[in-house]
Amino acid sequence: MDEIIAHLREHHNMYVEQVTALVAIPSVSSDPDRQGEMTRCANHLKQDMQQAGLENVQLMETGGNPVVYGDWLHAADAPTILIYGHYDVQPEDPVDLWESPPFEATQRDGRLYGRGVIDDKGQLYIHLAALDSWLHRGGSLPVNVKVIFEGEEEIGSAHLNDFLHRNKERLTADVVVVSDTGMFAKGVPSITYGLRGLTYFQIDVGGPGSDLHSGSYGGPVDNPANVLVRMLSRLKDDRGRVAIPGFYDNVKDLTDSERENFAKLPFDEDQFRKESVQAPGLVKDDEFSVLEQLWCRPTLDINGIQAGFTGKGAKTVIPATAMGKVSMRLVPEQDPERIGDLFEDFIQRIAPPTVQVKITRMHGGHPYLADIEDPIFAAAGSAVERAFNQETAFIREGGSIPFVRTITDSLQCPAILLGFGLPGENAHAPNEWLDLENFYLGMETIAYLYEEIPRHV
Ligand code: BES
Ligand code: MN
Ligand code: MN
Repeated sequence: MDEIIAHLREHHNMYVEQVTALVAIPSVSSDPDRQGEMTRCANHLKQDMQQAGLENVQLMETGGNPVVYGDWLHAADAPTILIYGHYDVQPEDPVDLWESPPFEATQRDGRLYGRGVIDDKGQLYIHLAALDSWLHRGGSLPVNVKVIFEGEEEIGSAHLNDFLHRNKERLTADVVVVSDTGMFAKGVPSITYGLRGLTYFQIDVGGPGSDLHSGSYGGPVDNPANVLVRMLSRLKDDRGRVAIPGFYDNVKDLTDSERENFAKLPFDEDQFRKESVQAPGLVKDDEFSVLEQLWCRPTLDINGIQAGFTGKGAKTVIPATAMGKVSMRLVPEQDPERIGDLFEDFIQRIAPPTVQVKITRMHGGHPYLADIEDPIFAAAGSAVERAFNQETAFIREGGSIPFVRTITDSLQCPAILLGFGLPGENAHAPNEWLDLENFYLGMETIAYLYEEIPRHV
C-alpha cells in the first residue's frame, strides 16, 4: 500500500494537469451549440481511462450524450464496484465575475479554479488517479471495477434509465461509488448517505393577444403577470410550508439517531446565515433545525420569473404573457411523478378562466437514502480515516443526483457518496474551486477504499 500512496504523491501535479486539460473542454450539456464539445470531452476521457489502465474502454450510446465506460475485472471472487461520475458541467455565465477564465483551470492559494473542477471533473479524476496508481504501481486491484462517466447529469440524466435497462448485465456490481458531493467542512471528511430528489416545472400564462396599454385596458383584462404571481404565492405558506394538498403525505420522518448525529456536527446556524447565505434572516421552522431543513425536508422554490417590462424607467403595459420556473426538492418517500401530478392539478385548479395556463414538466429525480448499517459504510469509513486521520461524518445533502436512485434500485445494491467538495466551493457559480489538499486526500481515500471493501464486504 505504501507504494500505491507514494505513486499518488509523486504524480499529484500530473493529475492536476490532467484535470486542467479536461476542464479546458467546455462540456456544457445544456448548451446546444456545444454538442461537439460533449463528444470531444467523452473521447478525451476515454484516453485518460485507457491511460489509467482500464480495459474495454468505450463510448456507449445513450440516445443523448455518450457514457464513457471502462472496466478492470480480474479480481476473482472479489466484490465489484461501479464508479459513477459526470463529465458535463453547468454554463459558465456570468463570465465577467470569474477572476480567471472558466475553462483555463488556474491555481491560486492551494485551490484550482475553473468550471467543473469540483462538479464533477476533478472529483471523477480522483478515481482515475487511484486506479492509475493501483494498476501501474501495484499491477492489479483487490476489487473488480467498472467505471461509467455520463454527460447529462446537469440536465437530469434523462437517457440513463433506458441506458441502464439495456446494459444491466454489463453494469452489475455489489456497490456504487460516487464522488459528486462535498465534505461537511474542511477537516471533516464525510460520507453522504442521503440526497434530495427533484421535480422541475415551467409555467406559461397567456392572456391577451398582445401587450396592451394598461390605461386603456386595465381592469377588465386580467394580467398574466398578476395571475402568475397570485398562483405562485399560493404554493407556500408564511411558515415556508408547501401548501399543495398531499405534498407531505409520504415524507419519511428522520430518526432520533440521525437527529442526534446532526446535532453533534460543528454547525452554527447564525454563522451559516451570516457567512454562507449573507441574508438578514432565515425561514425558521419550529420543528426542524437548519441542517434538517436542508437535508431531510422537502421544499419548493421559484427559480425564475419573466414577464412584462423590466427595462429602465416606467412603462404602463399589460404583458401578454408571463413565465415562471418552479422546482421542488423532495425527500424519501416522495415520488417525483406523484408530486408532479399534485402540483399540476393544484395549479390547474387555481388558474382563473381569464387566462390560459400551460405547464411543462422538465427534469426530475428520486431522493436517495441508504442504510448506513450496511458493511460498505464501515469500509468507506475506514478508508476515509486512513487518508484523513479524522473521524468520518455521516451526513445527508440537499442536492440531487438522479442516477443514484436509478442505479441502486436497479442493481439492488447500496451507493456510497464519497465526495471531497467544501462549503463555498461555488459549484454552478463563478469561481468554482477545488481544494488541492482535498483532491490529494481524496485520491488516497479511494486508493484505500479498494483495499477496505474486500475486508468488510
Ligand atoms: N453534484 C451535484 C449534486 C449535489 C449538489 C451534491 C449539492 C451535493 C450538494 C449535481 O451535479 C447537481 O448539480 N445536481 C442537480 C440535479 C439536477 C440538474 C437534475 C441539482 O441538484 O440541482
Ligand atoms: Mn455533480
Ligand atoms: Mn452540478
